[in-house]
Amino acid sequence: MNGLESHYGTDASLDEATVIEISNWLQTNAGGHKAARAEPPEDRITRSRWFIHEHDDIRNEVWLRPSIKSAANCAACHTRAEQGDFDEDFVRIPK
Ligand code: HEC
Repeated sequence: MNGLESHYGTDASLDEATVIEISNWLQTNAGGHKAARAEPPEDRITRSRWFIHEHDDIRNEVWLRPSIKSAANCAACHTRAEQGDFDEDFVRIPK
């Protein structure tokens, strides 16, 4: 969680409250042999209320298109995802 101001070439700095919250989550949920063997947690980004809210116009059928496959495939629709740019101006949903 340190050094986010140079995170893969972009500034991912967060405000202090967010850093504390995420660090606490990581300490509780990450690491440990038990955690490493367990199934992935249900609280993935695509299950977050934030994500669902931002994407609530997208019909279920769209997520399952062969060109998309999964909500985690951000770059299928966010044409500048690799540059860390998720602005709605650069969203293009593939057929
Ligand atoms: C099926 C295509 C699709 C996929 C896959 C997808 N998104 Fe989106 N995303 C959209 C659409 C459509 C919007 C809404 C754009 C609008 O408000 O007009 C959106 C909105 C967003 C926004 C808000 C943009 C803004 O300017 O308000 C963010 C941030 C975002 N998505 C991140 C992600 C992330 C992170 C992932 C992968 C974990 C992802 N998206 C996967 C289509 C997609």
